[in-house]
Amino acid sequence: MKKYLVLFAITGLVAAACGGSEEKKEEKAAEPAAAPVADLSSNPDYTKGLELVGKSDCLTCHKVNDKLIGPSYKEVANKYEATEENISMLAGKIIKGGKGVWGEVPMTPHPQISEDDAKAMVKYVLLLK
Ligand code: HEC
Repeated sequence: MKKYLVLFAITGLVAAACGGSEEKKEEKAAEPAAAPVADLSSNPDYTKGLELVGKSDCLTCHKVNDKLIGPSYKEVANKYEATEENISMLAGKIIKGGKGVWGEVPMTPHPQISEDDAKAMVKYVLLLK
């Protein structure tokens, strides 16, 4: 009887060890592809806007694919067409702040950002559909 118990324990250990390594493999496979879509990286509107957004505080409240404090950039891109009118309107919101479109949390104003830079940021955001 004792012998069986020992055998049973060993089998359990081996199974646990195998299970563990399988889990690791799964984690690796699930790693998200962080690189942007290839054809976007050669678009000057994309690279310029990405650089400006990276230098500012945008990413503390916005992520590309997930809602954070503000809407995800993907949601914003899906909501607005990249027309001159929308780009000016959204650039104005980045500079002056915005509220009430996505919820009650306001976006802080960014008076230090020039209109040209704000427009470049919006063009980048609207590419992220
Ligand atoms: C303090 C957090 C915060 C920061 C920092 C921030 N945002 Fe926002 N942003 C928000 C919130 C919250 C909203 C949703 C506002 C609303 O509901 O109207 C928003 C909305 C937006 C929108 C959509 C506006 C609309 O009317 O649909 C754009 C575009 C945007 N942000 C871009 C930016 C950019 C670019 C930056 C960096 C310069 C930035 N945000 C920095 C919180 C932030």
